[in-house]
Amino acid sequence: MKASLLIALLAFVSASANAAGGAAPQKAEVCAACHGADFNTPVSEDIPRLAGQYEDYLARALADYKLGTRKNALMSGQTEGLSAQDIEELAAYISGLPGDLKIIPLHRFVR
Ligand code: HEC
Repeated sequence: MKASLLIALLAFVSASANAAGGAAPQKAEVCAACHGADFNTPVSEDIPRLAGQYEDYLARALADYKLGTRKNALMSGQTEGLSAQDIEELAAYISGLPGDLKIIPLHRFVR
């Protein structure tokens, strides 16, 4: 059930990939394991929602992870192999996805 949902989401992503053109959706497939195929359904609470985030914010975050000016064990590995063009394409793609960025109620973290 869970696997078929993931496959459906991946199929959706590649469908929108073809519609949008470009290689970004393919490059983004690896990100789906954590951020969700739609970048709006992360697999756990400590992974951020990204769909609809400002493009320049996303590009800056990815560049910072790559350069080591922002440190995170998971994201450093993810950005190591990305070129500047990859980063720009990923940022534009993710920014264009429909998302519901919102403040997560504080009481979920602070009791
Ligand atoms: C193994 C899980 C994992 C994978 C795969 C992954 N991420 Fe992340 N990502 C995270 C986590 C965890 C964070 C939060 C890290 C932090 O606190 O700095 C994050 C943070 C980010 C941020 C910063 C968000 C913000 O609000 O500052 C961006 C942008 C991002 N990821 C993009 C991507 C892209 C693009 C890919 C694929 C190339 C990807 N991630 C793959 C786990 C992952």
